[in-house]
Amino acid sequence: GPVVGIIPAAGRGVRLGESLPKAFVELGGRTMLDLAVESMLGSGAVDRVVVVAPPELAATPPAELVSEKYADRVVVTAGGAERADSVRAGLRAASGAQFVLVHDAARALTPPELFTRVADELRAGRRAVIPVLPVTDTIKSVDSGGVVTGTPDRATLRAVQTPQGFDADLLDRANRDTGDATDDAGLVERLGESVQTVAGDPLAFKITTPLDLVLARALFAAADR
Ligand code: CTP
Ligand code: MG
Repeated sequence: GPVVGIIPAAGRGVRLGESLPKAFVELGGRTMLDLAVESMLGSGAVDRVVVVAPPELAATPPAELVSEKYADRVVVTAGGAERADSVRAGLRAASGAQFVLVHDAARALTPPELFTRVADELRAGRRAVIPVLPVTDTIKSVDSGGVVTGTPDRATLRAVQTPQGFDADLLDRANRDTGDATDDAGLVERLGESVQTVAGDPLAFKITTPLDLVLARALFAAADR
């Protein structure tokens, strides 16, 4: 069955602090959204893409939001107040999918191979697959007064990226429970389903702050494009 990409791109980008919604900020003359669509569809691992846009842009024809080459495999739908609301809107527009890959527009430099790696695990029978990296900083838990309450063993921790891949029916079921999970897999975990990790990629980092944007623009300029 078809593999549908869902790209949440409806955030405001408050932490980035640019005047445009973050997905429409440019790297080397192309928007983060356009780059994310290209890496997703260019990977060959995804058949079509649902872009979840800020509501005021949801009526824009795909050809005005993404490269001509990919526009006929893209639909645009309106996002919601929280990322989880936007993913739910994306799922509604992804009917007929066997698998979905949910991928932040803000991870604009994600290499195509990462989509393939996640999709291959789904085809091999995993129902939920997430890319992860080892944690390099020591992580502490703290109480409300800022006092350290513990130091989890770093060897057991992973930093989580997107694309996160799911059996479409499973993610649909997980999204009936409106929770406060900070990623899509968190909702699936609550159903008691197992979530498989695969190796992430440093280039799939999320462009969140002005420092991230400086890094992304430097990497983009240095890449052989
Ligand atoms: N996102 C979305 N709908 C929302 C919030 C976020 O589709 N209501 C998307 C963003 O566009 C982004 C991805 O989810 O591609 C990851 O979110 P984040 O990095 O937090 O982006 P923003 O919410 O835009 O940034 P900020 O939290 O700094 O405002
Ligand atoms: Mg946000």
